[in-house]
Amino acid sequence: MFFHVLTLFPDMIMDGLNTSILGKAMERGCIRAEAVNIRDYTLDKHLKVDDYTYGGGAGMLMQAQPVYDCTMAVLDSIAKRGAECGNATDAKKTRVIYVTPQGRIFDQKTAQELAKEEDLIFLCGHYEGIDERVLEEVVTDYISIGDYVLTGGELPAMVMIDAIARLVPGVLNNDESAQTESFGNGLLEYPQYSRPRIWHDKEVPPVLLSGDHKKVEEWRLEQSLIRTKERRPDLYEKWRESHL
Ligand code: ADE
Repeated sequence: MFFHVLTLFPDMIMDGLNTSILGKAMERGCIRAEAVNIRDYTLDKHLKVDDYTYGGGAGMLMQAQPVYDCTMAVLDSIAKRGAECGNATDAKKTRVIYVTPQGRIFDQKTAQELAKEEDLIFLCGHYEGIDERVLEEVVTDYISIGDYVLTGGELPAMVMIDAIARLVPGVLNNDESAQTESFGNGLLEYPQYSRPRIWHDKEVPPVLLSGDHKKVEEWRLEQSLIRTKERRPDLYEKWRESHL
């Protein structure tokens, strides 16, 4: 999986992705990431990438030309790589995700769907957004991370990349942990405990020390159901409907 992030702030992306689990996964070659500076593609001699909006209104808009040329350059590089591997049509199918509060809301299902792709392009907007005409030409998916507005698309892109990358085989040490955690089965994860057995007068539930795996599994499912019902009644209802 190769993540391509089109941004005006490439350092922000690479500093964020090069650390921790994703950084290690990149060192091992399980995933790749590049941050492509949209400003490098502007034809303006002052390296300008934004301008006032027609019709008036506050703020500046990212212009179509640098965004278009940057996207095409990345699609070309994907096509070239595909051609080298005898797979010339791939770039045409590459999904170009515009990270925007106007998109559909990102969730675990979307992460699972996107984790199947070979390449993903994330287009990060800034200022008041991006000229509509270029969006119409290059974007395949409009995705938001929630109903609130951030200053730019870089943090949402990193949030999505993190959620997608950890589903790519080999990124997590323990493949199982991506399956059993919250949302893997549509429920929140059960409570977990480590040593010591008693802390602040609170004891670890005895069933977890019993060594009876069947009982432990039953207890965990029960706890997942209780927790989901309490904290996320919407998810609980969905789970119940699909298990009737
Ligand atoms: N850009 C600004 N706010 C955003 C959000 N909530 N989701 C995705 N992109 C954004």
